[in-house]
Amino acid sequence: MTTKAKEMEISLLLPIAEETPNGTCEADEPLNVRPLIEDLRLNLRWQRLPQEYMKLEAQELSARVRAARERLGARVVILGHHYQREDIIQFADFKGDSLKLSQYAASRPESEFILFCGVNFMAETADILRAPHQTVIHPNLTAGCSMAEMAPTQDVLDAWDELAEVLDKNGIIPVTYMNSTADLKAFCGRNGGIVCTSSNAEAAIRWGFQRGEKVLFFPDQHLGRNTALKMGIPLSQMALWDPFQPLGGNPREALESSRVILWKGHCSVHTRFTVEQVRKARAEHPSINILVHPECTMEVVQEADLVGSTEFIARSIAQAPPGSKWAVGTEVNLVSRLAKENPDKLVFCLDPVVCPCSHMYRIHPAYLCWTLENLAEGRVVNRVEVDPETKHWARIALERMLALA
Ligand code: 13P
Ligand code: SF4
Repeated sequence: MTTKAKEMEISLLLPIAEETPNGTCEADEPLNVRPLIEDLRLNLRWQRLPQEYMKLEAQELSARVRAARERLGARVVILGHHYQREDIIQFADFKGDSLKLSQYAASRPESEFILFCGVNFMAETADILRAPHQTVIHPNLTAGCSMAEMAPTQDVLDAWDELAEVLDKNGIIPVTYMNSTADLKAFCGRNGGIVCTSSNAEAAIRWGFQRGEKVLFFPDQHLGRNTALKMGIPLSQMALWDPFQPLGGNPREALESSRVILWKGHCSVHTRFTVEQVRKARAEHPSINILVHPECTMEVVQEADLVGSTEFIARSIAQAPPGSKWAVGTEVNLVSRLAKENPDKLVFCLDPVVCPCSHMYRIHPAYLCWTLENLAEGRVVNRVEVDPETKHWARIALERMLALA
């Protein structure tokens, strides 16, 4: 095979998706952008891109993104989730957590194009909430979320039917975390349920209890468990639903006596944080504040001083007094940005091994460049479009959530 043919092969064959690029995580590895062709060698899944974008260095990519951005002006707005790399977030007109970005998509009809730098479910949500004249674009369609993938629609529908065999289904309110497919948001809309984010999970569960006796919470068991515990619901009134087992692996009586049924899903980034890491940080820095995301395990959350969404994490550190110290349990791109933005404070990641969310990481600047340059030439690539029926019901569940805030 000639070198040229080999290069072509790289752009045509997509390596298999990895949930977390553990093989590529190293202590203190820099988060600098490499040409896309080099990232491909890490065996992550990428969307195919024209060859010319594959080898562009960070500086050239930034210059081309800037130029395309200028040509488009106010016609495009770029939204960036807090976990996006620095080389993406520098171009975001607006950054935030899942709640803030969905509120934005629902309330700013000014721009014709919403370019969503985040993961799939966030771009889908923007499409569900956008105004009719707007178009949502996602730079790399393979940027999903491994937690969302742990709750396939059919598995949830099967669970719903199984629960109906042993419980009164009318008394169960489905609550889906934002990190789920549009299909599942629609399922909640159809079945008297609601969507929540890590910012409003408590309000959403409370909303559920005003309408039913039990809440089926998916896909993140940890957010569900941590929130229910905070609301005073004991572990003895929570059941864990394993989709691979009959009745989720529960005796019928356990489901009957439960108030919250937790789907057995998790985030592979946040479950890396451990109680040992918290204790080590406390031992090394006696005045440290431990600040973690509620997708961490119950044990870690119970050891922490503060728990909240990515926006809460960013705000808590920004508002903290100079000299304060923060060990943070969330994705490393956000933590390293907070460390840079707060040079008067000590900010570091609880986990010493640099391990970005492999899905968020897939928004390489080459994709941003490709989508913007096409848009500037009048071509829409990577449009996200939820079908009208799903959109209708998902919007109902999302609007119930937005009404909580
Ligand atoms: P936030 O809503 O806190 O931004 O969380 C989204 C997410 O995917 C965390 O892993
Ligand atoms: Fe999904 Fe976890 Fe990545 Fe958040 S950090 S997008 S929950 S895989």
